[in-house]
Amino acid sequence: MTEQQKVHPVSDDFAAKAWIDKEKYQALYQQSLDDPEGFWAEQAKRLDWIQAPTKIKHTSFDSHNVDIRWFEDGTLNASANCLDRHLATRGDQTAIIWEGDDPNESKHVSYRELHAQTCQLANALKELGIGKGDVVTLYMPMIPEAAVAMLACARIGAVHSVVFGGFSPDAVAQRVIGADSKLVITADESVRGGKQVPLKDNVDAALTRPGTEVCEKVLVVKRTGGEIEWKDGRDVWYHELVDKQSSDCQPEEMNAEDPLFILYTSGSTGAPKGLKHTTGGYLTYASLTHQYVFDYQDGEVYWCTADVGWVTGHSYIVYGPLANGATTLMFEGVPSYPSHGRMGEIVDKHNVAILYTAPTAIRALMAHGDNVMDSSKRDSLRVLGSVGEPINPEAWEWFYRVIGNSKCPIVDTWWQTETGGILISPLPGAMDLKPGSATLPFFGVMPALVDNEGNLLEGAAEGNLVILDSWPGQARSIWGNHERFIQTYFSTYQGMYFTGDGCRRDEDGYYWITGRVDDVLNVSGHRMGTAEIESSLVAHESVAEAAVVGFPHDIKGQGIYIYVTLADGYEPSDELKKELTQWVRKDIGPIASPDVIQWAPGLPKTRSGKIMRRILRKIAANECDGLGDTSTLADPSVVDELIENRASR
Ligand code: PRX
Repeated sequence: MTEQQKVHPVSDDFAAKAWIDKEKYQALYQQSLDDPEGFWAEQAKRLDWIQAPTKIKHTSFDSHNVDIRWFEDGTLNASANCLDRHLATRGDQTAIIWEGDDPNESKHVSYRELHAQTCQLANALKELGIGKGDVVTLYMPMIPEAAVAMLACARIGAVHSVVFGGFSPDAVAQRVIGADSKLVITADESVRGGKQVPLKDNVDAALTRPGTEVCEKVLVVKRTGGEIEWKDGRDVWYHELVDKQSSDCQPEEMNAEDPLFILYTSGSTGAPKGLKHTTGGYLTYASLTHQYVFDYQDGEVYWCTADVGWVTGHSYIVYGPLANGATTLMFEGVPSYPSHGRMGEIVDKHNVAILYTAPTAIRALMAHGDNVMDSSKRDSLRVLGSVGEPINPEAWEWFYRVIGNSKCPIVDTWWQTETGGILISPLPGAMDLKPGSATLPFFGVMPALVDNEGNLLEGAAEGNLVILDSWPGQARSIWGNHERFIQTYFSTYQGMYFTGDGCRRDEDGYYWITGRVDDVLNVSGHRMGTAEIESSLVAHESVAEAAVVGFPHDIKGQGIYIYVTLADGYEPSDELKKELTQWVRKDIGPIASPDVIQWAPGLPKTRSGKIMRRILRKIAANECDGLGDTSTLADPSVVDELIENRASR
């Protein structure tokens, strides 16, 4: 039996205690399709509304008029739902366990403390002139203040835009400008794997770029006390302003469709898009999926290893768990520091019951052999989760056996920045698991497969993954550019949301995500547009032309393979390769580090000048025998040259 055919049935014992078993899933899923209004009206009751919604669903995927509204006459405040409503019943319970990069540093923040800190920062934001509708950029380490900052924005109706702390000054500048952001919240430095990352220096550099003048203030958390520059009148120490504020701040009444946050993500073309997520539907969906997908039980410690800079951190470190009154663990560091056993040691130290991580982290550990987890027992684990990229069955089985001691179901959760929450995933008490499959849709989600012409495929099939109707967590638009939102997601296949992913459905109706079908790379679970990397490269004086493709990589899932045509007067050299590597890292961030650079005197193009990426992908993957039809190329000889150079690259 191949790994792909293995099935791990739900254990009766697990199902008996779970929120959702097989029968409940079937019944609720059917109800969610038959009567979405009734189903979601009921689910929305899990939140505290100021005005309960009476209008539930108003959504259209028609490409002439994409309009997505949920609970549109309801009002609420997201921070009050994550904090205030828990005070009476669980004020002293730990909301956030913070585990520092240094294993000797950790702390517990109770719901009462988190509430007080959020109110204080909310009042400080008001003092800085921030109000409802203003956009605040967060460029933060993984420290509790990151969650506090998100919740404080939500409390006063400001919109947060979190920028991943590994991104470059240019990426920060681009996002500050794109969202007209008046304030940046950052820290002096972040600490990861024993090394300091100069966040404040990066913000300083970002704010020298033209267009960033909109940003008037920078609020700085003192994390390390490292040396930083200070700009009087603009820079404000977090502790100096926040500590003196009142810990009482009335939450702003927000409409369900008021924006909660913007989050930028890469697409196949152009600059990253700022996806707009709104309040009522997003929070309902994040909270419901967190409870059911992870089968979260009251009192458990739940740990999602993502960074708050990604959507996973938004929905499943902050909003989902806190709306549910959970204890959520926030880890500042990396799984390999100070040793590769760290993840297991954290599980033991804090009694983690649910561990949600990424295939790339699992593969990196797996490369060190089964003994890598010997420094921990991990007996507290009950459910494991995976996200960000397809998990190969070998990594799935290793995760199950070595990390989970062969007793924890794995939920392989498929979703996207655009979807706000998990769309396809096992519910651990309801689905038999097949390693490598995200299994079945969540309540209210209608996945389908279409061929390239948009024809729906029935039964067991492989095609492009689309979603036929809206769910409450869905992004409503691209910030400031609704037309681009429509173009990107709703115009490829009429009346459907196009995910950009390829997918196979088996005879049991299980979904197997095969990866992106557009020019988006997924490197260690991080999304990157090939166009972004290419435009960075051609900005270097030595580069005449560049083409970027993904190739299979044992640890990262996909690696970055770059073909460079040099400008006249430049010669290939190892020094130049290093320089280009540094250039891209500096421009976009270390996650965009090229794995391979190959000099390409010519690139394969059609007669109309379009680069044939299909061929470049094959050469990068070393599948040079199956290049397919090259007769439409303007100059087929460049292909032979690239294959020859590949060997000596
Ligand atoms: O290709 C899919 C892959 O990640 C993409 C979304 O990336 P992002 O918006 O950064 O969000 C990542 C975290 C939700 C998808 O289009 N992806 C995500 N989860 C899975 C996955 N591919 C396969 N299996 C998954 N479980």
